[in-house]
Amino acid sequence: MTNSETILVFDSGLGGLTVLREVVAARPGAHYVYVADDAFFPYGHHDEAEIIARVVPLMGELIGTHDPDLVVIACNTASTLVLSHLRAAYSVPFVGTVPAIKPACAQSRTRRVSVLGTKGTVKREYTKALIRDFAQGCEVTLVGSPELASLAEAELRGAPVSDEALAAELAPCFVGDPADATSRTDTVVLACTHYPLLLDRLRRLAPWPVDWIDPAPAIARRVSDLLGPRIGALAQSGAEMIFTSNRAHGLSATLTPFFGGRALA
Ligand code: DGL
Repeated sequence: MTNSETILVFDSGLGGLTVLREVVAARPGAHYVYVADDAFFPYGHHDEAEIIARVVPLMGELIGTHDPDLVVIACNTASTLVLSHLRAAYSVPFVGTVPAIKPACAQSRTRRVSVLGTKGTVKREYTKALIRDFAQGCEVTLVGSPELASLAEAELRGAPVSDEALAAELAPCFVGDPADATSRTDTVVLACTHYPLLLDRLRRLAPWPVDWIDPAPAIARRVSDLLGPRIGALAQSGAEMIFTSNRAHGLSATLTPFFGGRALA
């Protein structure tokens, strides 16, 4: 047991770890519960009604069991759909992860921005509204990747993914004349929390250099703002990793760095 704050971080799989590591850095004294709904992964392949019917009751069970002070939905595919349902159903504060279209368009010099997400996220009305409200005159290209989240999971689990497979998912993000740096895409929004797991390779495989926008540091700041001044000591207070499939994963050594080195229960 712990008397520090408890933060529950939720994703369909391992992608939310890229958000978790930033939250852990911002709130090192918190107790963490990371839930990977791997029994239902990938969310990008489910339709909207299925995701709502899955996540809303599951979150009720998780809140009942873990009594978190705050929940981070570290998944764009879920956040762009279920945040309003979760806030209506439960009183715990929720922080979502949604495509960082506003900061990307604010910083693009060529006014060409691509949003790389799951097929579900790029289809959402929520995402289209972000473009209507915040594109600021930029041309925004939506790229729905069918496989990149699964490829990121494979890579993290130690099954190498080929450059060709990654480059094929990435190619539609790069719009304009490759030889004209003043008009081609200069900013790519990582609108799926799995993709920063592959960032080094994405940078290497990009046909030209771009800025990659990962919203995780902004999410961590939002979590800290909502929780207010830290409760208790700065000493680490443990972490739990839950896979809804209950499958044995054997990933502890790979996962502990995302938890700031904590031993996982
Ligand atoms: N990590 C999730 C996201 O941010 C999606 C992966 C999936 O398709 O389940 O969108």
